[in-house]
Amino acid sequence: MTMDMSNNDRTMLKSMLTDPNRKWSINDLLESTGWDDQVHVAGSGQSLSELGLVAIHESKTRIVSLDSEGEKAAQNELLEERIWKWYLDSDGDKRNMENLFDAGFQRNEAGPGIGLLKSMGVRLESGNLVAPDEELISSIISERRDFISKISASSVEDSELSPQLIEHFSGRKDLISIDVQVTRTWSLTEAGLSVDDELLSHVEMIGEVTPELLQGDSWMGAKFKPFDVNAPTVTPTGGRPHPMQALIERIRNVFLEMGFSEIEGNFVQSAGWNMDALYIPQSHPARTMQDTFYLSNPQKVEVQEEYLDLWSKVHEHGHDTGSRGWGRKFDREEAQKGLLRTHTTVNTVRHIAENPSKPSRVFGIGRVFRQETIDRTHLPEFHQIEGIIHEENANLPMLITTLKTFYSKMGYDDVRVRPAYFPYTEPSVEVDILWRGEWLELGGAGIFRPEVTEPLGTEWPVCAWGMGLERLAMLILGLDDIRQLYQPDLEKLGQMPIL
Ligand code: PHE
Repeated sequence: MTMDMSNNDRTMLKSMLTDPNRKWSINDLLESTGWDDQVHVAGSGQSLSELGLVAIHESKTRIVSLDSEGEKAAQNELLEERIWKWYLDSDGDKRNMENLFDAGFQRNEAGPGIGLLKSMGVRLESGNLVAPDEELISSIISERRDFISKISASSVEDSELSPQLIEHFSGRKDLISIDVQVTRTWSLTEAGLSVDDELLSHVEMIGEVTPELLQGDSWMGAKFKPFDVNAPTVTPTGGRPHPMQALIERIRNVFLEMGFSEIEGNFVQSAGWNMDALYIPQSHPARTMQDTFYLSNPQKVEVQEEYLDLWSKVHEHGHDTGSRGWGRKFDREEAQKGLLRTHTTVNTVRHIAENPSKPSRVFGIGRVFRQETIDRTHLPEFHQIEGIIHEENANLPMLITTLKTFYSKMGYDDVRVRPAYFPYTEPSVEVDILWRGEWLELGGAGIFRPEVTEPLGTEWPVCAWGMGLERLAMLILGLDDIRQLYQPDLEKLGQMPIL
């Protein structure tokens, strides 16, 4: 137990053991410890009481002192006293109001003054004041005078004063004031009494571990200053990567660790590569101006004839894919419209076109653009985490395992997939993760359809996925508004977890 004490605690306990049965006042303790600050007594008293060694006794005293009217009374006598003197000095038939004013009493004094006398038994008889028991009144007034002069010398504890007079003066305006004061005393408990005073000598506390310290052996018997890890402090601020940048870095590392290589692509793409290559029908609603940012410069992004030919055939009648196509005329101009990519799937598709017979596992984290109205969960610019496995035996379980492994490396173990629809995958799934008891949708995935892979020049299946980065960031950073990710609020950014 003595191990848990600070040096101050030891000093205070040692002092108290010099007179073990005493109740110590603050002044007793200051004197015997030699301290000059009451804070030490309060602090060590508290910790010794938490250790069960000291009992703290609190007593409340009411301290009575003069208020503003009381101060005046102490100087000029109480109103009833002055009127009583006038009464005693006046002849029996001169004790009326007129003479009272003549004697110099103010109108605002006369009324209350007479009231005070009346409450002591004085009566008005045909305009004249009459006191049946003058002695009684004189003695009441002298008690009141003594009360006032006693507290005018210094404030007095209520126990030293007559409760009736305290009550009387409390009822009169601004005569006295009463303050409640808490007085503490400290005494040793049974446990405190039995502490061996020998154990209470000061202990050298080590607050800092230095190389010099470790070279000697003085630290062996020493005590180490405990750190209070819950004590409030200033949060250190300094340069750090933006949380989004840090998160991208972490995701990148996870995929690299899983054996994937990173790919990139341009923001500006043709509708052909962004959509036609993915067998998205040219009449698809997502292609409209409400969803896609088409560009006026470049308005046209040329696409190789070879691909325009292939996509025309696939879209119009299915070509060799076994599909019947969309059964509509393919518009080659539409396919060469310039736009801002709406998903990063354009990158993986182009990667396959460039490497049709090379097995690959690639990923990319990139910005995409859609005409969204900004709100709590939507931004017109956001990021996707895209990837593919393109190899001879690629299959759905492989895809699901890959996504589960990715999310579990990111700290989310509960992942589920649900059937879904995308024009370019079959089967298609939606990927959800469990977060605080709720399933949250994070992205789409599937196996590219032959209508997609055949024009790209590959015969192998392709596992593909595309997931939202901001959604994941909100979960990891504990945000409920997507906009917080991009507001340049340094204070908030500084408070986000370091990833
Ligand atoms: N491109 C889809 C999206 O933007 C995601 C996806 C990618 C779905 C790959 C299936 C396959 O939501």
